[in-house]
Amino acid sequence: MTSDFTIERIADHVGERVTVRGWLQDSTPKGKLLFLRLRDGTGMTQAVAYRPEVGEALFDQLKALGQESSLIVSGVVKANDRAPGVPKGYEIAIETAEVLQETHDYPITPKEHGIEFLMDNRHLWLRSSKQWAIMRVRATVKRAIIDFLDGRGFVNIDTPIITPNAAEGTSTLFEVGYFDEKAYLAQTGQLYNEANIMALSKVYCFGPTFRAEKSKTRRHLAEFWMVEPEVAFCDLEDLMALEEEFVSTIVGRTLEERANELALLERDTTALRNVVAPFPRISYDEAVQRIQAIRAATDDPVQKELLALEWGDDFGSPHETELTQQFDRPVFVYGYPSAVKAFYMEPWPGRPEVCKSVDLLAPEGYGEIIGGSERMSDPDVLLAAIRRHELPEANYQWYVDLRRYGSVPHSGFGLGLERTVAWICGLDHIRMTSPFPRTLNRLTP
Ligand code: 4AD
Ligand code: MG
Repeated sequence: MTSDFTIERIADHVGERVTVRGWLQDSTPKGKLLFLRLRDGTGMTQAVAYRPEVGEALFDQLKALGQESSLIVSGVVKANDRAPGVPKGYEIAIETAEVLQETHDYPITPKEHGIEFLMDNRHLWLRSSKQWAIMRVRATVKRAIIDFLDGRGFVNIDTPIITPNAAEGTSTLFEVGYFDEKAYLAQTGQLYNEANIMALSKVYCFGPTFRAEKSKTRRHLAEFWMVEPEVAFCDLEDLMALEEEFVSTIVGRTLEERANELALLERDTTALRNVVAPFPRISYDEAVQRIQAIRAATDDPVQKELLALEWGDDFGSPHETELTQQFDRPVFVYGYPSAVKAFYMEPWPGRPEVCKSVDLLAPEGYGEIIGGSERMSDPDVLLAAIRRHELPEANYQWYVDLRRYGSVPHSGFGLGLERTVAWICGLDHIRMTSPFPRTLNRLTP
């Protein structure tokens, strides 16, 4: 059953006899012709059976196939401007075919289905064109992330998934039994990476992270993938320079390699083409003023309510959405109040109520895709923060230790893969970016 041919590469095979192994998306009979829409996992193409050519028996067998029947088809590739597909413009004139399984009553048809029905059938829904395109974009974004960091001398290192430490607040911890102890699923690998950089200088971990997010939103999953670069001898300025280069490279590579998929998703790519470094940088103070001005300018009472904000408050989705609509590319917001951020962030010199944090907010209303900061480098300042946050001190001794033996300024960030993919694909909900998303209300399939 081996065959080197993939629909993705059909353009290289015009005039050749090829074999496609795949599934039937739909078929349209037209007299002596039968148009089959086939997908093989790498693309979709049209295959045409001509009754006098393939014979009565095979023609009738193919004509009877239902959606998602599996089959192997051989024939000659022809260029045809009007032939649909990804890539479009090619078709296969069928010579022979073998049906592996004839299927009927596939639950997902081209008609509209409700989202709950589709999520219940996620194991099948993944075969639909748009879902297929999203997974291909996701894989490319992952590859671009890894290539960027590997190419710049970062060491890829794995951090534990089972941990006794809370790093990003105690309200979103998933507790797991660990023999006779209590442990949690990792919210982040960052604390471990701060140890890792003291050995390896520049590292990143890239894996699943877990947050028991108790609210239903378009931006939160309970399990998501995060890439977390961490760098020794790196301050907030250096961090922003790294992030903007990182994000523009990822977007550029996706535009280049996944043009067909983005077209299938009807993504307006002009907005993505603007994603070029440098990105604008505004302080939290300025962001608050901008949001307050947007609020003052609106007559909509609902918006007024949603956009209420005072210095010291954290931003919610409505704030980020409005703010990012003022920019044509991602925007950095730095210097948040320490009180709304994690315990480990370096205080702003001369302004202890502010920290050296930076979030990167994606345009078009998508909001935060990266959270990062310069880390506390003084052991006493860190210890005081651990106590202020009432974290179990004994579990953080090793973390404080890192500041006792050759402490250096260091910084890092975490980029959420699914939020980034949702933005690049132009999706209205994060759940579509994961093959099997875990959310507040869904653990199956
Ligand atoms: O801002 P966060 O919480 O930062 C950290 O976890 C740091 N320890 C990272 C670091 O500095 N090494 O999360 C980082 C990013 C967010 O910007 C967002 O993209 C994503 O992770 N994220 C989520 N994505 C989906 N669902 C959730 N529940 C998410 N929570 C965070
Ligand atoms: Mg954050």
